[in-house]
Amino acid sequence: MSISIKVKEGIAASSWVVNIFEGNSQSGSGGKEVCDFRLGNPKIEPPLEFAEELKKVANNPFPEMHGYSALAGHVQTREAIAKTLSNERGLNFTAQHVIMTAGGAGALNIILKAILNPGDEVIVLSPLYLEYPYYIDNHGGVCCVAETNADFTLNIDTIAAKITSRTKAIIINSPNNPTGTIYSEESLKSVARLLAERNRQFGKDIFLIYDAAYQDIVYDGSKIPDIFSIYSNTIFAASYSKPLSIPGERIGYAAVHPAMKNFEEVTEALIFANRVLGYLSAPVLMQHVVSRLQGVCVKRAEYQERRDMFCDALEDFGYSFIRPKGAYYIFPETPGDDLVFIQELAKEGILVLPGKSFGRSGYIRIAFCVKKETIKKSLPGFKKVNDFFKRNANAK
Ligand SMILES: Cc1ncc(COP(=O)(O)O)c(C=O)c1O
Repeated sequence: MSISIKVKEGIAASSWVVNIFEGNSQSGSGGKEVCDFRLGNPKIEPPLEFAEELKKVANNPFPEMHGYSALAGHVQTREAIAKTLSNERGLNFTAQHVIMTAGGAGALNIILKAILNPGDEVIVLSPLYLEYPYYIDNHGGVCCVAETNADFTLNIDTIAAKITSRTKAIIINSPNNPTGTIYSEESLKSVARLLAERNRQFGKDIFLIYDAAYQDIVYDGSKIPDIFSIYSNTIFAASYSKPLSIPGERIGYAAVHPAMKNFEEVTEALIFANRVLGYLSAPVLMQHVVSRLQGVCVKRAEYQERRDMFCDALEDFGYSFIRPKGAYYIFPETPGDDLVFIQELAKEGILVLPGKSFGRSGYIRIAFCVKKETIKKSLPGFKKVNDFFKRNANAK
């Protein structure tokens, strides 16, 4: 009775992930009430429109409402998304280009399943969303990590150095988890130029998988460059988890660039992947609900208020970090080992994740999608631990 060695290793390397999903944070060291900033599970309630739409759908049942949908998803929902994408991007998206998925994670997995052959390489940028290496491995791919710059902007040279004849795709996540960076249009164009050059060199088409999980969570009026106008071999992985604050409902979509040469073959592969990975289709009730919620989003101001409250305080305490432009994470540098730093924070009843788990040691990730009181309560602890580390560093 043995389990897969790879799975065993995965469990050992990430047991803390299981703990955070199980809410294993009721009391910290010494029975202190815990301020938990580990998981991007928003404590902000969904917008009112979501509850209204949910009630409307529930109160107006129709035959086979809860049956399997088409593998690609309900055509009305896909049409609604295609219309939104067309309006926003000035391209001719139709339902054919959109596949409904079980969240952004489902979208990423069907994309990787659809395109990868064993041993194909996928470039990811570090600091990285910690599930990418597992998702790539799920489908026989090899994860190749390219570092971003010290300020987390794209480094074209490190990406260029990772491209080989086996490169099948690059995953770009902007706004970024864990850094909150929005990559500039210029830097994305440089990536597109590089990919086009290598496509010519190797006689192939490298896919750009754009992870848009946080596309609606942006601050200071920041604009996100339109990746579809930059690179036509793009597959978009989007999610309603963050904009509607409904991550437990598992609803998202994949969208294929209308100008992709073999888009029909690619969408057929995505639909096949949705089936054989056992999703069959995205959760059907949610497909009905999100259909009329295009463009609806939680109040960004709520997140911006939390970001500013947290960042202003951390700045005062002497933390070094780049104020996030989007998503809801702060990624400060630690004066000293990040694993030791998080242990000291835990003694103060503060739980954060180490940069190490995002591929960059010497940082911590703080998820600020929490109640304002939680942030306020944690601030003395953040100050105490940073002061302690700085004093120790100065004493050396
Ligand atoms: C960067 C990134 N991509 C994808 C996901 C997957 O989100 P979901 O599957 O809930 O849409 C997450 C979730 O936190 C994320 O942070």
